[in-house]
Amino acid sequence: MKILITGAGGFIGRNLIPKLKGKYDLLCLTRSKHPHLEGIQYFEADLRYLYTFQERLEGIDVVINLAANLWKENHTMYLDNVVAVKNLIEACKKKGVKRFIQLSSNSATEDNITEYGKTKLEADKLVISSGLNYTILKPTMVYGKDGGRGFTRILDHIKKYPIVPVVGHGKTLMQPVYVEDVVEAIIKVIENPISIKKSYNIAGPKAITMNELFDSISKTLGKKKPKLHIPLKVIYFLTNLMHPFNKKKRMSKEGIKTFYKDANLDIQETINDLKYNPLHLEEGLAKSIK
Ligand SMILES: NC(=O)c1ccc[n+]([C@@H]2O[C@H](COP(=O)([O-])OP(=O)(O)OC[C@H]3O[C@@H](n4cnc5c(N)ncnc54)[C@H](OP(=O)(O)O)[C@@H]3O)[C@@H](O)[C@H]2O)c1
Repeated sequence: MKILITGAGGFIGRNLIPKLKGKYDLLCLTRSKHPHLEGIQYFEADLRYLYTFQERLEGIDVVINLAANLWKENHTMYLDNVVAVKNLIEACKKKGVKRFIQLSSNSATEDNITEYGKTKLEADKLVISSGLNYTILKPTMVYGKDGGRGFTRILDHIKKYPIVPVVGHGKTLMQPVYVEDVVEAIIKVIENPISIKKSYNIAGPKAITMNELFDSISKTLGKKKPKLHIPLKVIYFLTNLMHPFNKKKRMSKEGIKTFYKDANLDIQETINDLKYNPLHLEEGLAKSIK
């Protein structure tokens, strides 16, 4: 079975590829060179431009679409998250791809106010109406040894500051998922026809508050750090004020918006269909933090 993985250079790709290597014939699509792709067949392309990759889908059985723009500036998000998926679907249909696995997000809901959530939802709609044998996976915040971005940011703050800044009251619910559980779910989907034309929530076993997440990370690090709660309105005001000078975009206006929304997801169908059995936060953190 020949599998094309897009966004192969990213966090989930880095963790997925070693698990598929040797078992499947892999071809990876990436926008730039990545050391972990050494020894793997790959090519450089940009999904925004169909001509850069369409012919490479010849003979591909399964596409796993990990490519997305999670945090870069809003004006490229529509191109990377929607136009890219539209192009990929077109190429898959032309080349007769049998299965299409789309990594979406728990942010892809009608009531989500972020550009990321809106564009991921639009992409999901394209996938659902494509006529392809799709499966959509909707992870919450993913964490692991070398990422993701949201988790790494919190970890860095806890390591660095004597008092840890927390956006708002810290009672927003989160259900972080360990990266290997996401990888496991993707692997289960590849050869499981029960998942065709279905969407699955991919989350940790239990929702916790942001305060609890910060405390668990501190505990795993062996540090006891007091938290400083900064009201959302203050952070939003400061971020807006600093936006033009904030070159590294360490705190984006988009990022702030995510602190408004609870993640408390039903994963029962994922457990039933995919025998999904995610790690508890403490176990996942112990594997992620050295
Ligand atoms: N990580 C999380 O917490 C999380 C949570 C929920 C859902 N997800 C979803 O899971 C998937 C994988 O996430 P990830 O954490 O692995 O993200 P990531 O580390 O940011 O990797 C995404 C990759 O997609 C590539 N990409 C973006 N636009 C592209 C384009 N137009 N053409 C080709 N490649 C493009 C990026 O390439 P460049 O490096 O060149 O930009 C990057 O390597 C995404 O669909 C994301 O929405 C992730």
